[in-house]
Formats: sequence, C-alpha cells, structure tokens
Amino acid sequence: MYTVPKLEDFSPAALDAAAAELLAALVAESHAAADPRSFEEFRNRWMARKNGVLTQVNDLWLKAAPSPAKRDVGQRVNALKQRAEALVAEAEQLAATAALGSKLKSETIDISLPGIERPLGVRHPVLRTLDELISVFVKMGYSVAEGPEVESDYYNFEALNFPPNHPARDTQDTLFIANQEQRAQRDRLLLRTHTSPVQIRTMEKLVPPVRVICPGKVHRNDAPDATHSPVFHQLEGLCVDTNITFGDLKGTLDHAMKSLFGSAVKTSFRPSFFPFTEPSVEVSISCPFCGGKGCRPCKQSGWIELLGAGMVDPNVFGFVDYDPKKLSGFAFGMGVERLAMMTYNVDDIQQFFYGDMRFLEQFA
Ligand code: PHE
Repeated sequence: MYTVPKLEDFSPAALDAAAAELLAALVAESHAAADPRSFEEFRNRWMARKNGVLTQVNDLWLKAAPSPAKRDVGQRVNALKQRAEALVAEAEQLAATAALGSKLKSETIDISLPGIERPLGVRHPVLRTLDELISVFVKMGYSVAEGPEVESDYYNFEALNFPPNHPARDTQDTLFIANQEQRAQRDRLLLRTHTSPVQIRTMEKLVPPVRVICPGKVHRNDAPDATHSPVFHQLEGLCVDTNITFGDLKGTLDHAMKSLFGSAVKTSFRPSFFPFTEPSVEVSISCPFCGGKGCRPCKQSGWIELLGAGMVDPNVFGFVDYDPKKLSGFAFGMGVERLAMMTYNVDDIQQFFYGDMRFLEQFA
C-alpha cells in the first residue's frame, strides 16, 4: 500500500515524480472503494486531519521543504488536495449507488410467482333459504319490512294482545335487557322473540291495504340442541285489506309451499292458538321426502309442521287504529332454519352457527 515518502530532492522533476506516484495510488484506491464500508476506510485514510495521507504530505513535503522550494511544493500539494477531494466525492456517489443497487436486488419482486387467491364467498344456507322465501312472496306482491332486534315489551307482547301474565313474558322464555325494573312494563327492552312486532310497526306506518313480509333474527332463552337455537330467523307475513278471508290465507300459504317444495306438496291447517290471531292455525305440508307415506324426517306421520298463522285478532287492530269492522287480514310466521334444514337435509340446527368450514363449503 502507498506510503508518503520523505523527500530529499525538491527539484521540480523530483516533485513531479513524487506527485505522480501519489496520484496513481489515490486513483487506484478510489476505484476500489466500491461499497459504503470501503469508501469510509478510503476517505479516512486520505482525508483524516490526524495522520491522513494528505496531512502527512503537508508535514513531510511542504513543511519540510527548504524556503526556495516551498512555492513549487505548495502548488503541487494544492493540486493534489483538489484531485483528492474530487475523487472522494466521486467514490462516495458510486458507493451509494452500489448500496442502493444491492438493496433493490435483495427486494426484487418475483413476478412469476402466482398471485394471492381470495376464496370467493357464498351466501350462508340460512340466508339463501330466506332469499328464496322472500322472492316467492315478492312475486305475490308483498314488500319487505324490517324492525329492531332489541324491542320493547309493548311491540313484542302488549300490542300483540298478550295478556299481562302470559308465560312468554317470563325470563324463562325471553331474554330481557338488564336493570330496567324501574321502567313501566311496556317500555322494558328485550330481544324480540318473534318477528310479529314488525306487524305492529308496519300497521302504525301504513294505511291499508298492507302486504308485507318481515324477515329477521329472533332470540329465545332456549338451551341449544339439534332442533333449538337461542338465536334463529323467522319470516313473518301480514296481509290486511277489506274482505280478506281465511280462504285467502289458505290459498297464499298453499301457493308459497308449492313454490318452495314442488306442486305435489299438500298443505294442512289445524286449529291452534296465538294471542294475536283468531282463529289461529298450525300449517303442515305433506312430507316432501316420502310424499306422505311416512319416513324418518316426518317421523312416519307423512306431515311436517312448518308455520303458525291465523286471521289478525280484532284487538290487535285496536292498538294501531285500524277499524276491525271494515278491515280484516291474516298473518303467518315461520322458522327459516327449519326450512333450510329440510331443503339441504341438515339434521342439526347448530351446524348453521358453528362456522365450521367443512360444513359451509358444501354450499359453495
Ligand atoms: N309469531 C309466532 C311465533 O313466533 C308465529 C305466528 C306469526 C303465528 C303470525 C301466527 C301469525 O310462534
């Protein structure tokens, strides 16, 4: 490696030779300083105040020169200093560019790799069933209404003609919002136990004729098992006009069931009770699996119970200022999961809520 010699001969020719030797070393070393680390070493070796090559040149050449030669030495030393500064600046640029280059190299994107695939989602089987149901009723001229899941006792029970001590109002069956003891009973909030409160909210807003369906989530204080879930979905229906009869109720539900399960399906209406309908019925369909002969899904009976329904009780009209002397109507409600279980042959309602991909992927 180049070291600064002491000069004996200060003649211009000897000075030129010494300067040329130094410059050759400077150029060679600057080319070798190709990355940031070797550049730092290179710059220190040549430029450091204390003992850098240029400082040594100052001491060994300029300061040591006899007075008559000082001018010749000074000129050459200055020229060397300028070259050195220029070469250091140049080397610094090159080292920085090299560093950036190697960084980019290590970060290069491999455009030949396959992209990240987003799996396409599909509608949940319960919502798919609900959509199908909605479309059946929309084709019959029904529109869709929605209501809140957190309901008041008034809409969920009182305006639907539930007597004050009806067992459904008990915390055994209904999930109430906590700390409402100081409120009047009708104002107490609860998770709606059925979609029927949307009947009331709809009649409060619309003048008849009314034809709405109300899909939505409902809650009951039930322990989960193969046929019960504390959260499930219902589809409610309400039709009010002058001269609506029980025949209209039968025709509408018979048509809806045939649309869903095929035209061979029969419907059966048996007397039942709901506080908000009079008369009330349970609606069954002939078993679509065995055609009515009896099988496991219909428990050998040939029939499957699917809906609650009835003619709107005149007392309910009283709560919404509809005149029961001029108007009549029918209402119905059904469990969506139950229909989905029949449609997709699912034997455990819990499967709809586990979120298990092995189950859900079967609907893709
Ligand atoms: N709301 C009733 C239930 O949840 C179903 C129903 C709706 C019955 C409308 C009659 C009329 O069981």
